[in-house]
Amino acid sequence: MTSDFRGFTANGKTDPELVKRRSAYVAKIDGELTNYARLTKKNITRAFNQYITHWFYPYKGKFHPQMVRGLANIMRLKAGETLLDPFSGSGTAVVEGALLGLKTIGYDISPLCVLIGKVKANAVHHLKKIAPEGESFSLLCEVPPTWNENIAKKLSDPVESFDLLAHMIARSDEARRGQDFAAKVHVNREKMLKSLQLMKEGCEEIGIRPVPARLEIADARSLPLKDGSVDGIITSPPYSIALNYVENDAHSLEALGYDLTHIKDEFIGVRATGRKRFDLYEDDMGRAYAEMARVLKFGPRQQKQWVNSGSGRRPSV
Ligand SMILES: C[S@@+](CC[C@H](N)C(=O)[O-])C[C@H]1O[C@@H](n2cnc3c(N)ncnc32)[C@H](O)[C@@H]1O
Repeated sequence: MTSDFRGFTANGKTDPELVKRRSAYVAKIDGELTNYARLTKKNITRAFNQYITHWFYPYKGKFHPQMVRGLANIMRLKAGETLLDPFSGSGTAVVEGALLGLKTIGYDISPLCVLIGKVKANAVHHLKKIAPEGESFSLLCEVPPTWNENIAKKLSDPVESFDLLAHMIARSDEARRGQDFAAKVHVNREKMLKSLQLMKEGCEEIGIRPVPARLEIADARSLPLKDGSVDGIITSPPYSIALNYVENDAHSLEALGYDLTHIKDEFIGVRATGRKRFDLYEDDMGRAYAEMARVLKFGPRQQKQWVNSGSGRRPSV
C-alpha cells in the first residue's frame, strides 16, 4: 500500500487487471490508475462524487456512486448480468451499473426521477442528436402544462428529455437558490453537454461502452418483471420521515403538470401522519421487498449467501 492509502501492489493472489477494471476504492494498482480513478477525473464540479453526469439535478438523498460499485463487486455481478434498482431516484445505480457493463433496470414512481436517470445514463449515446455540430438550438422557456400527457413517449425522446432536464435544473436553482431561471437554463445545458462529452471521452479512454439503461415509471410494489429475472438488486428505499420526495421536488413536478395531491398517493413514505404513516410505510415496504424477492434469480450465488446467513434456504417474505 502506498502512503496515500489508495495505491496498491498486487501480491500474486490478486488479478491486477480485474482490480483495474472493477475497483471502486483503489486508485492505483501496480502503478496504474484504475478505470474508476480515471473516470472520476472527468468532472466539471468540485465534488468528488459528482463526476461525469452524476451532478445532473440537485437530487437529495442519493447514493454515493463508489458505494454502488463496491456493492456490485461484493455481489460478484458480471458484465452482461442484470442489475435492478426498483427505487432508482436520480439513477446513480443504473449509471454505475452501465459503466460496469451490466444491463440495468431502474424504476421509480416519480416521472421526474425517470427523466433524470434516463438523461444521466443514456444521453451519452445520443450526443450527435442532442447537439448536432454547427446547429443552434432553441430551448423551451415554459414547459407546456400538459407535458405529463403521453409521458412515456416524451421520455423516450432523448433530445426532448435532455432539454427538459436542463429546464428542470434551472427550475430547481430558481426555487431553491433564487437564481435567474432564464440565465441558468442555457448555462446548465452547456455544462450538461460538456459532461456528456467528458463521459464519452472517459469511456473511450478506458475502452468501455456503457450499456444503455432501461428506466421506466413503475411502482416498486408491483414490478413489471418476470419471476427470477434479475441477477442483483442495489437500492435505497424511500424514507419514512427524513425526506419527503414529493415536497422536495414539488416545483419540478408541478412544472411538469402534475397534481401533487394525486401523485402523492403512489409514493411510499409520504402518506398520512403519525402512527398511521409508519403502518402504511411498513406495509408498502413489505410489498416492495416481496416483489424484489420474486424477481431476483435464485441460484448458487444467492443460496450460498442464505447458507452463510444461517437459514440455508430461500426465506419466504
Ligand atoms: C432514497 S430515494 C433513491 C435514491 C437513489 N438511490 C439515488 O441514488 O438517486 C427513494 C426513491 O423511491 C421513490 N419511490 C417512492 N415510492 C415509490 C414507489 N411506490 N415505487 C417506486 N419508487 C418509489 C422516490 O421517488 C425516490 O426517488
